[in-house]
Amino acid sequence: GGSSLWRQALHLLWLLKTISLAIDEYKPQDATTNPSLILAAAQMPAYQELVEEAITYVKPCLEKKKKKKDKMGNFTLYVLFGYNKKMLSFDKDAMVARARRLIELYKEAGISKDRILIKLSSTWEGIQAGKELEEQHGIHCNMTLLFSFAQAVACAEAGVTLISPFVGRILDWHVANTDKKSYEPLEDPGVKSVTKIYNYYKKFGYKTIVMGASFRNMGEIKALAGCDFLTISPKLLGELLQDNAKLVPVLSAKAAQASDLEKIHLDEKSFRWLHNEDQMAVEKLSDGIRKFAADAVKLERMLTEQMFNAENGK
Ligand SMILES: *[C@@H]1O[C@H](CO)[C@@H](O)[C@H](O)[C@H]1NC(C)=O
Ligand SMILES: *[C@@H]1O[C@H](CO)[C@@H](O)[C@H](O)[C@H]1NC(C)=O
Repeated sequence: GGSSLWRQALHLLWLLKTISLAIDEYKPQDATTNPSLILAAAQMPAYQELVEEAITYVKPCLEKKKKKKDKMGNFTLYVLFGYNKKMLSFDKDAMVARARRLIELYKEAGISKDRILIKLSSTWEGIQAGKELEEQHGIHCNMTLLFSFAQAVACAEAGVTLISPFVGRILDWHVANTDKKSYEPLEDPGVKSVTKIYNYYKKFGYKTIVMGASFRNMGEIKALAGCDFLTISPKLLGELLQDNAKLVPVLSAKAAQASDLEKIHLDEKSFRWLHNEDQMAVEKLSDGIRKFAADAVKLERMLTEQMFNAENGK
């Protein structure tokens, strides 16, 4: 029936999520994924067996869908392939609806919403979707593609659970677009951005967790030691474990209190204005949305092709 289709769909999602993570060695408490990570993993020979297993699970759903276009079959496809929804990043209601459906599906599979963070782009619409999900539905959100101070302030005011401001991608932009090609960790524009956000949140008592992400080197990580959480790749985690120097906290609530930041309030107009003043953030945000959309299309195409091949091979 419908709900077993859902379960199969979920199983595929779980498998895809699992293969997208090379994390066994470090026993992290959380795992994260996105269309680009899944696409990269699904193309690695090492994970082909899992991809095939996943396809075996989802094939019956597709066959059913071909026979009769029942609502459930349609919906299963929507879940599996739904990353590829044009303009999702700019449609608040669509984001809320989609997040609530995913949470329902996970609930059916016995996974409570407390274990799940819905990842949303930090566009104005995404941030407002996060606000509604948190306030009205108790659904926790992880705001991603966050590059500007304006985005961080709006997220704090929306009361989302977690933001993941990028460090390395900010550095990349400055290296590509200015004459300066290398930075000391404390001068690194990505480090400075996250430091400012952290200080602002702590100084004004916002509960939103700051989880710095996308690091290019160990120096960036060390310069942000003390941040609530950091997402660190297995490679850099390995380097850190090898490194004998002690990690000293750089960020602290005390230093945040001492900073000279002033509290601001952003409505839609002032958000759009302030964000637009930051050329790097404008370019990186659009770039990020474009890239996820393109990878989602590729992933969808690849999985569909493999499914048809599997069918024809029989
Ligand atoms: C089913 O799919 C069609 C086209 O693919 C779409 O327009 C429609 O909204 C979908 N219905 C549901 C319930 O998902
Ligand atoms: C939140 O999303 C970022 C990507 O923007 C990821 O690096 C991070 O691990 C996620 N955090 C959690 C707790 O899932």
